[in-house]
Amino acid sequence: MVKEEIKFDIKVYDSIDELNHEDAFLLNQARSVTQFAYAPYSKFQVGAFAKLMNGETVSGTNQENAAYPAGICAERTLMSTASSLYPGIGIETIAISHRNLNGNSDYPISPCGICRQSFVEFQLRTNQSIRIILGGQEGRVQIIENALDLLPLVFGAKDLK
Ligand code: THU
Repeated sequence: MVKEEIKFDIKVYDSIDELNHEDAFLLNQARSVTQFAYAPYSKFQVGAFAKLMNGETVSGTNQENAAYPAGICAERTLMSTASSLYPGIGIETIAISHRNLNGNSDYPISPCGICRQSFVEFQLRTNQSIRIILGGQEGRVQIIENALDLLPLVFGAKDLK
């Protein structure tokens, strides 16, 4: 038996003020687009805003449904938009923010498991790692350099060969 350790780095900043201009812009946009979420059930609005490898930007928000599982997260809305408008183009950096209408929005949230799986597929199909900026409407910010870090031991196309 050998023990293997899986590690990854995460950068933590006290606030958006410590980010460079472009990262701060992306996070501010993610904060702002939370207003376009459709979240009447959870009251938890999520906004995502990304810069693509072709320089274009796209946004996404969560879109809920009375039949709860039919809802979709902001991150996957964004990925669907990106690959529909600009097929094959990778995401360079995505910022994700939220506004909890029933609580605090001053801390980062990180993507759900399904979105992590979708990020990995998106990375593989575009051959481009995705950098992730996480932050609430205020407060500390986290940066993860590669979405794959969020899903160790991932299942993927390689396993279907
Ligand atoms: N949600 C997202 O859009 N992204 C996340 O990373 C976490 C959760 C949405 C799904 C649902 O509409 C609401 O937030 C509460 O779970």
